[in-house]
Amino acid sequence: MGRFIKSNGMHRTLEGWPLVFTVLTTLSILVGGLVEFLPLVLVNNSVDRIETVEPWTPLELEGRDIYIAEGCNTCHSQQVRPFRHEIERYGQNGGGYSKAGETVYERPFLWGSKRTGPDLAREGLLRPQALWHVRHMEDPRSTSKGSIMPPYPHLLEKKIDFDGLTAKLRTLKRLGTPYAEETIENAATIARTQAKAIATEVEEQGGPTDLEDKKIMALVAYLQSLGTDVAAASDAGPSDAGPSDAGSAESDVTADASK
Ligand code: HEC
Repeated sequence: MGRFIKSNGMHRTLEGWPLVFTVLTTLSILVGGLVEFLPLVLVNNSVDRIETVEPWTPLELEGRDIYIAEGCNTCHSQQVRPFRHEIERYGQNGGGYSKAGETVYERPFLWGSKRTGPDLAREGLLRPQALWHVRHMEDPRSTSKGSIMPPYPHLLEKKIDFDGLTAKLRTLKRLGTPYAEETIENAATIARTQAKAIATEVEEQGGPTDLEDKKIMALVAYLQSLGTDVAAASDAGPSDAGPSDAGSAESDVTADASK
């Protein structure tokens, strides 16, 4: 056989053994597949977790679904890139640039790259006030002069489907989001309580009443939460909020926020 290989080449010989050739081909494809696949699985385990990043509350989750349903992500990204100008513009109030560990519970992620409106990854730090969001959603031009953002007045009228929340949380749990069984079962009650708190906040700020079961409450809860978990992490320990001179810089947007 040695002579045969020499004269015709190893490849020719292998081709003459269909079964062996098939097995070897399959093996080499499998090895190639594993080399591609394994890093994905391993990276998933080695993403730098941020301890303060928790799954969305039921109400925030509902708000996130409304955000997606209304197509907000077609105009707003949620990803601050690690460049100085980005951090100054969008990484306000200790948020810094976006880290992988922030989006471990995002299904699907909403990083985006289209910025017709500003990046919202740190919106909860920039504009924590509930009433501002209610007014802005009802009529963007009432809070932001000349805004080209469309109005969403129906969110102040349509009701939240509280009863559908348990199923949503259960599905996410099946996909790996660590929701406690208690949270899943009481999702509607937990969401109602949070919505009521935000509705009270809006009333106290002089806004409309009777919003506690309206979709806008879920959206506001979601917007208020954006970036807050990351800021909590940098409060707690050494921060890596980006180049040290940029993270805390004031920008036009921050100045705007005081209105
Ligand atoms: C057609 C593009 C477009 C769509 C769709 C859109 N926005 Fe906007 N958004 C803008 C623009 C432009 C601004 C900046 C002017 C302003 O504040 O209204 C903005 C501003 C914002 C701000 C204030 C950001 C800040 O801190 O300065 C928030 C919050 C926001 N949008 C949320 C939403 C949500 C939630 C939705 C979906 C319900 C949405 N946007 C849909 C274009 C859009």
